[in-house]
Amino acid sequence: MKNQTVLILDFGGQYNQLIARRVREHNVYCEILPHFADIEKIRALEPVGLILTGGPDSVYLDTSPKLRGEILDLNIPVLGICYGAQCLLYALGAEIKPGADCGSGEDCSEFGRTSVKFDTRSLLFSGLPEEFNVWMSHNDYIAALPDGFADKFISTGQSAVCGTAAVECSGRKLYAVQFHPEVNHTEHGGEILHNFLYKICGCDGDWSMSNYKDECIAALRRQVGDGKVLLALSGGVDSSVCCALLAEAVPNLTCIFVDHGLLREDEGDEVEAAFAGTPINFVRVNAGERFFSKLKGVSDPEKKRRIIGEEFIRVFEDEAKKIGAVDFLAQGTIYPDVVESGLGGQSAVIKSHHNVGGLPDYVDFKEIVEPLRLLFKDEVRRLGTELGLPDTLVWRQPFPGPGLAIRIIGEVTPERARLLRRADYIFRDEIAKAGLSRDINQYFAVLTDMRSVGVMGDGRTYDCTLALRGVVTSDFMTADFARIPYDVLEKVSLRVVNECSGAGSPCGINRVVYDITGKPPSTIEWE
Ligand code: XMP
Repeated sequence: MKNQTVLILDFGGQYNQLIARRVREHNVYCEILPHFADIEKIRALEPVGLILTGGPDSVYLDTSPKLRGEILDLNIPVLGICYGAQCLLYALGAEIKPGADCGSGEDCSEFGRTSVKFDTRSLLFSGLPEEFNVWMSHNDYIAALPDGFADKFISTGQSAVCGTAAVECSGRKLYAVQFHPEVNHTEHGGEILHNFLYKICGCDGDWSMSNYKDECIAALRRQVGDGKVLLALSGGVDSSVCCALLAEAVPNLTCIFVDHGLLREDEGDEVEAAFAGTPINFVRVNAGERFFSKLKGVSDPEKKRRIIGEEFIRVFEDEAKKIGAVDFLAQGTIYPDVVESGLGGQSAVIKSHHNVGGLPDYVDFKEIVEPLRLLFKDEVRRLGTELGLPDTLVWRQPFPGPGLAIRIIGEVTPERARLLRRADYIFRDEIAKAGLSRDINQYFAVLTDMRSVGVMGDGRTYDCTLALRGVVTSDFMTADFARIPYDVLEKVSLRVVNECSGAGSPCGINRVVYDITGKPPSTIEWE
């Protein structure tokens, strides 16, 4: 069964994925395509509504992206947001101007929280108060509504300086808002989207996780039949959920879990336990020694990443050979990995991320299956819960493919890994005891290569410095350091110094510091 689909056309706005998540939160399936997407591809989705995202451009410039007439010809309801609003109106003949010269010395550009008066007779704002705060972020504004357009456009929202904060042509189901209903700062933003989806597009909310689970299992059965499926399991959320889903759908599944010896305390056993007792052929490969010997003497971060990535493939390949030719290679690719951006261009490589994806060149298989490729991370978690996975796996914070190797500054040795594992466990334990686990999106310890002087038991020490890192972020692209209460940090520091002073390592920990840098200018991981 095909879900009703809303199409989001991406004009390069920073919130495009957020819009998609908000739509799906209302149980409506949506997809994002770049604004220049082929019309046949768009038609094939049979969208019941269209949302045009914000973007950084000025629509009246020759070089800026425009809304094509063939898209308007689809004759479906449209909601333009910010640049998307201007784009929609411009395509119909409206005048869009820079806010800085909107007459009588006024500046109509608006940034941040802004009060708007609404006409609640509009379907888009029905049931809402007549005035509330919204989040604005626009330089240009809609200066004059389309003139020669057959149906009538009216203004349905006005701020103190902008008479066109919301406009519509209800006869043609065309709606435009200058503000961002998708961000939390916009009061009633969720209700505005709900009105658009349900009252204007006529959606009936046929996208739910339990339906999705059943449909996905049925589709996998059709695709895979009794073919042999191989999955590289990292123990992260995506590959674990992928594994649980495949386990319900296919009879002939082998999961290879490579333990590279650089996992966190008890992590390997937790992953194994989650899949023990299931019909999956679960292969755990304890390859720690192999990885440590390759990493001997290496301290350059990129070199560590490369070595681990390559070794991972070698181990996987060795195991795959034992299994023989497979029909399908499964991967836990998720939607943000496959969204085509409207912006294009290339961003600088800051770090070469190693994931367990990217294996196909090395293994003999016929086809790839990617059952999570339509889901966002939070949806993957919901699906994991739906499939009965334990919270420890479903709510696992992101953990980099190279594991603790990029949290050990300098050479990675089994002793240093052991020391860090212990310290990291203490940090996580205290965060959990303080009830902060879900408030801090990622937190971990880093073993630095710095030694400093301390005093313990009246004696001088010259030991290692441990850094703690905690960040609050929604997308891991930017992050703020977490404001962890001092008393929690103090408990961690005391325990770490007491429980990790020596511990069989050449260097104990006698100093604990907390990283208070955001991203940018830092990155989340230290290497
Ligand atoms: P950075 O350090 O780039 O990290 O700010 C952003 C997010 O990505 C994770 N990360 C990685 N994940 N392989 C991964 O699978 C990697 O090599 C890698 N490096 C960083 C990091 O933990 C954070 O969540």
